[in-house]
Amino acid sequence: MRDENEGEESREEILEKYRFAGRILAEIREEAIKRTDVGVPHIEIAEFVERRARDKGAAPAFPCNISVNEEASHATPSAGDETVFKEGDIVKLDMGVHIDGYIADTAVTVDLSGDGKHESLINAAEVALRDAIAVVRDGVRVEKISEVIEHAIKNAGFKPIVNLTGHGLRRFNPHAPPSIPNIRHQGSAVLREGDVVAIEPFATDGIGRVSEGGKVEIYRLENLKPVRLQSARRLLTEIMEFQGLPFAKRWLKTPHPDGILRMLVRDGILHAYPVLREEGRGRVSQAEHTIIVLDDGCEIITE
Ligand code: CO
Repeated sequence: MRDENEGEESREEILEKYRFAGRILAEIREEAIKRTDVGVPHIEIAEFVERRARDKGAAPAFPCNISVNEEASHATPSAGDETVFKEGDIVKLDMGVHIDGYIADTAVTVDLSGDGKHESLINAAEVALRDAIAVVRDGVRVEKISEVIEHAIKNAGFKPIVNLTGHGLRRFNPHAPPSIPNIRHQGSAVLREGDVVAIEPFATDGIGRVSEGGKVEIYRLENLKPVRLQSARRLLTEIMEFQGLPFAKRWLKTPHPDGILRMLVRDGILHAYPVLREEGRGRVSQAEHTIIVLDDGCEIITE
């Protein structure tokens, strides 16, 4: 915690909130894995994850991302979406909860092939995550973590996705610096004791890059500015309740033609998160934990 926006709370009080968020999220992740199966609608899992967060005394930090096959992230069902999981799917569940703005973030990949077809790809991301976590301690360079991730994924015979990264977590900010790339790079960022970061390797048998698709289901309030249109003002009033965290279009109760969301994005008021797809249409696996950096290692809060 290098910044001041956490107010009056002590460092230990803040870390306790992170730990509580992590504990809740780990339970929800395991419950969600058990429910993810062929024939189950995506929206059932997304709504389950988001509802369980509230049941357990937390709140979703962002919509549950359910990204299938060549989708890497930022997919979440729309309202009334009837898409179901299919046999052969490789499913990334990426979820977050917060306590008072302190966020835990975790992801897992589920193999619905029935014959373990995706196992080695899934293992590649998991081994990369484990190896990366093993090198974290006060003073570790972010480029070291990236190098370990790249090595583990390539060693398993796959490619790391070059334009997806892990990230820091700050109060009400699920994508704070530093970013933690999945490939070797040169940078000066160093992790310090007390930093809270999410490490999330992505592996693929495609070309190793993602690009933005046209579909957008997730947004975030970026820069509140006065708007003239009354319907847009009403919508923004509801959006402010999300406290700057990403939200799903299906969460909105205020009637809103898609044109209004597009206008708010164009005016720089909302940030849009289009679905990210592997450019070579390869399969994608992901593994993610949130950790607190310690003097001589780290504490995994989402295990
Ligand atoms: Co994350």
